[in-house]
Amino acid sequence: MDLWQSAAVVTGAASGLGAETARFLAEAGAKVSLIDIDAIRLEGVAREIDGLAIPCDMSDSDAAEAAFKQAREANGAARVLVHCVGRGHSQKILTDGEPMSLDSFRQLVEVNLMSTFNMMRLAAADMARLDTQAQGERGVIISTASVAAYEGQSGDTAYSASKGGVVSMILPAARELGPLGIRVVGIAPGLFGTPTLFKMERNLDSRLARSIPFPHRFGDPSEFAMLVKHVIKNVMINGTVLRLDGGFHH
Ligand SMILES: NC(=O)c1ccc[n+]([C@@H]2O[C@H](COP(=O)([O-])OP(=O)(O)OC[C@H]3O[C@@H](n4cnc5c(N)ncnc54)[C@H](O)[C@@H]3O)[C@@H](O)[C@H]2O)c1
Repeated sequence: MDLWQSAAVVTGAASGLGAETARFLAEAGAKVSLIDIDAIRLEGVAREIDGLAIPCDMSDSDAAEAAFKQAREANGAARVLVHCVGRGHSQKILTDGEPMSLDSFRQLVEVNLMSTFNMMRLAAADMARLDTQAQGERGVIISTASVAAYEGQSGDTAYSASKGGVVSMILPAARELGPLGIRVVGIAPGLFGTPTLFKMERNLDSRLARSIPFPHRFGDPSEFAMLVKHVIKNVMINGTVLRLDGGFHH
C-alpha cells in the first residue's frame, strides 16, 4: 500500500500509540484524519502534522459514524484505518465480597470492542468502493488488541474480554474482506509507556520493565508506529495479530 496522498483515519490519536501513528503516517505523505474524545490534545497533534482533528466519543456509535463521515468528506475514503482508541481498566470481579458492576464491564466492551467493529465495518464499506492499487489492494484495517487478550492479570477480566474480542475478529474479517482487496491485521502491544498503562498498573515500577526479556524497558510509541507502517507496506501480512512485547509474558 502506497501511503503518499492516501487518506488515513487514526483513532485514539490524541495520545500514546495513536498520536505517534498519526505522526508517522503524515510523515509518509498520508492525509490523516485524527479522532479522539480529548479535543484539546487532539487539536495539538493535528496542528503539528497538518491533519484534521475530529473530536468524538467513540463509544457513541452514531457520533463515531458521523466522525467517520466527516473524515471522508474532507479527505476522501480512507485506504488505511488504524484504530487505537482504548481504555485501560483494572477491577476485580469481587471487591470486599461485592460484585463488580455490570455497567463497568459493558462500558469497557463498548469503548474497546464495539468501537473496533464499528470502525471496521464503516472503513470496509468505503474501501470496497475504492479503485485497486498495486496487487489488487484496496485498503488496510489495523486494530489494537493487547497481550492481555492472552495473558490477563487478576483484575483484567473486563479488559481482557474486550481485547480477546478484538483478537477473535481479525481472521474472520480478513477472510471475508480479502476477496475485496482489504487486509485486516491486529497488533497486540505488551507494555508501552502511555497513560493507559499507568491506569492499568497501579504499582508500576522498574521491576516490571526488567521482567521484559529484551529490551528491559517499556515500549516506545514510535515502535508501535513503525510496525503499523510496515504492516501497511507489506501486503503479505494479513489475518493475524502481531505481538509487540519484547517477549513479555507476565
Ligand atoms: N500502553 C500499553 O501498554 C498498551 C498495551 C496493550 C494495549 N494497549 C492499547 O493500545 C491502545 C492505545 O492506547 P495507548 O497506550 O496509546 O493509551 P493512551 O491513553 O495514550 O491513548 C488512548 C486514547 O484513546 C482515547 N479514548 C479513550 N476512550 C475514548 C473514547 N470513548 N472515544 C474516543 N477516544 C477515546 C483517549 O483519549 C486517548 O487519547 C488502546 O487500545 C490500549 O488498550 C496499550
